[in-house]
Amino acid sequence: MKARQIKPNVYWIGTIDWDRRLFDALIPLPDGTSYNSYLVRGSQKVALIDTVDPTKTEVLMTYLEDDPVIDYVIANHAEQDHAGSIPRVLEKYPDAKVVTTPKGRDLLAALLLIPEDRFITVSDGETLSLGDKTLEFIHAPWVHWPETMLTYLREDKILFPCDLFGSHLATTDLYVTDEGQVYEAAKRYFAEIMMPFRTSIEKHLEKLNTYKLDIIAPSHGPIYNKPSFITEAYRNWVFGPLRNIVVLPYISMHGSTQKMVEHFVGALVDKGVTVKQFNLEATDIGKLAMALVDAATMIIGTPTVLVGPHPNIAHAAFLANALRPRLQFISVIGSYGWGSKAVEQLAGMVPNLEAEVLAPVIIKGFPRAEDFKALDNLASTIVKKHKEGGFA
Ligand code: FEO
Repeated sequence: MKARQIKPNVYWIGTIDWDRRLFDALIPLPDGTSYNSYLVRGSQKVALIDTVDPTKTEVLMTYLEDDPVIDYVIANHAEQDHAGSIPRVLEKYPDAKVVTTPKGRDLLAALLLIPEDRFITVSDGETLSLGDKTLEFIHAPWVHWPETMLTYLREDKILFPCDLFGSHLATTDLYVTDEGQVYEAAKRYFAEIMMPFRTSIEKHLEKLNTYKLDIIAPSHGPIYNKPSFITEAYRNWVFGPLRNIVVLPYISMHGSTQKMVEHFVGALVDKGVTVKQFNLEATDIGKLAMALVDAATMIIGTPTVLVGPHPNIAHAAFLANALRPRLQFISVIGSYGWGSKAVEQLAGMVPNLEAEVLAPVIIKGFPRAEDFKALDNLASTIVKKHKEGGFA
């Protein structure tokens, strides 16, 4: 593939990873991903903005075969999927400098063993002239790591935000063409990677309001030539209204919790609540994370295993706690045989969730009439709480 021009002397030189199915040995990538690197040729200097995952280094180097000089490698983010090819680029261009934040320098030196004399550190708002093009650096800690920055190409009004606004989507489309597909992929990406940092992102979104943006060129997924498509989506995901949704991750070993879940879901649906039910025997955790973006409530369904929750449920609770969704209400339903501390143990696993805990429904054995009544009551409580909260 050849370099693809975005604006005069600004090129996408990314790599598409069609086959990758897991990121960070954790996050499912059902649609693969891409690592987007960009080349900016100014009248006096040449800058490479971010590199690619080390598994794709040689693809990146092929794009650069005919470039005798790279003056600057802009490292917006030190994570290896963007920075991992920097050492190889520095090897080819011995005079090139890595431009990054002070924290970026520390991390890149630690992770990739880049010598100290190869760095130029930049402060928030600092600019770098390439001649007829000017790069402005916007410090943006915690989107995704503490060292992160965004780069703005002033003359062309292009924002290079690295991870922010990205999507894990392998596609040959340079720009967004299928908005539905990209919205889904970008929401999944937000849920899995950005949601824990939504307070920081809210501030960065405000800051970006002061920039004129013609193009947002992230380092994963297609480029946005209608930036409001993704900035509005982020506003909605970060601080838009929560919805009248119950997310229900569950496991059942012998059918008791399954029966409770079926009854409970029916009761909620009858009362007008949308339910997103996930059997964790076979759930793509990315879909669970997406459901948590704008749901008002999560109810966990678990049997008792060795006194505690089922290990798959513990995994989901740990994940939900780490992702810090905006949930307002949580509770647990489930069954045990001879004793259970599942509720207490689950409560201890979600200290980050600032949600009201509703009375759980934990029963012995298979559910009876009084247990179904308790589930109906929990459903009624949720409906009342959602109405009071104005969740539509
Ligand atoms: Fe795409 Fe935080 O790396």
